[in-house]
Amino acid sequence: MKLLIASGNKYKIYEFKVLFEKYKDIEVVSLADLDDHDEVEENGTTFSENAFIKAKYFYDKYKIITISDDSGICVPSLNNEPGIYSSRYSGHGDEANNDLLLKNVEGKDRTAFYECDICFYDGTEPQFFIGKCYGTLGYERKGVNGFGYDPLFIYEGKTFAEVDLETKNKVSHRALALKEFIKYFENKYSL
Ligand code: IMP
Repeated sequence: MKLLIASGNKYKIYEFKVLFEKYKDIEVVSLADLDDHDEVEENGTTFSENAFIKAKYFYDKYKIITISDDSGICVPSLNNEPGIYSSRYSGHGDEANNDLLLKNVEGKDRTAFYECDICFYDGTEPQFFIGKCYGTLGYERKGVNGFGYDPLFIYEGKTFAEVDLETKNKVSHRALALKEFIKYFENKYSL
């Protein structure tokens, strides 16, 4: 069976593929494997809506059962911003996004959570799986691993950029959402 991961983000693809390694009968392909660089407009108003928009677009294109995720970091003291705008927060990439978040959270409560909504779509009813991971925002970047806001996001005393992927994969928003998805997937296909 083939499963398409509708993402071109190499970090996300790696995180997904590691979690699927044990299923020898499932061939996991990503948009990178298909050399597909289509940009799908994420014009939903929630993570789930955006995940569905992407899953449907690529399912319709390839007719391969598809999972897609939309994720981001939410800061309750900033009305849950950057939220769905996480990747485009500053308009100038990860470094500028981190700078802007540090500036905006100055003097405010630094509680933050990552959210990941996964959509599974096989041409029938879409299924959604949601994972959240709570932490706080540091005052400066720490660590070199991960991507996006990881150098700022502190979970149990260390930023996600200071821990290895194996550690992040045990607790991350994406891992939690994937765990729920895998339960559903195993049940659906009697794996
Ligand atoms: P997406 O690719 O549209 O889901 O956007 C996700 C954006 O949210 C990324 O560009 C990052 O800015 C942020 N983000 C989501 N998950 C993570 C994570 O695990 N670490 C760091 N940043 C993340």
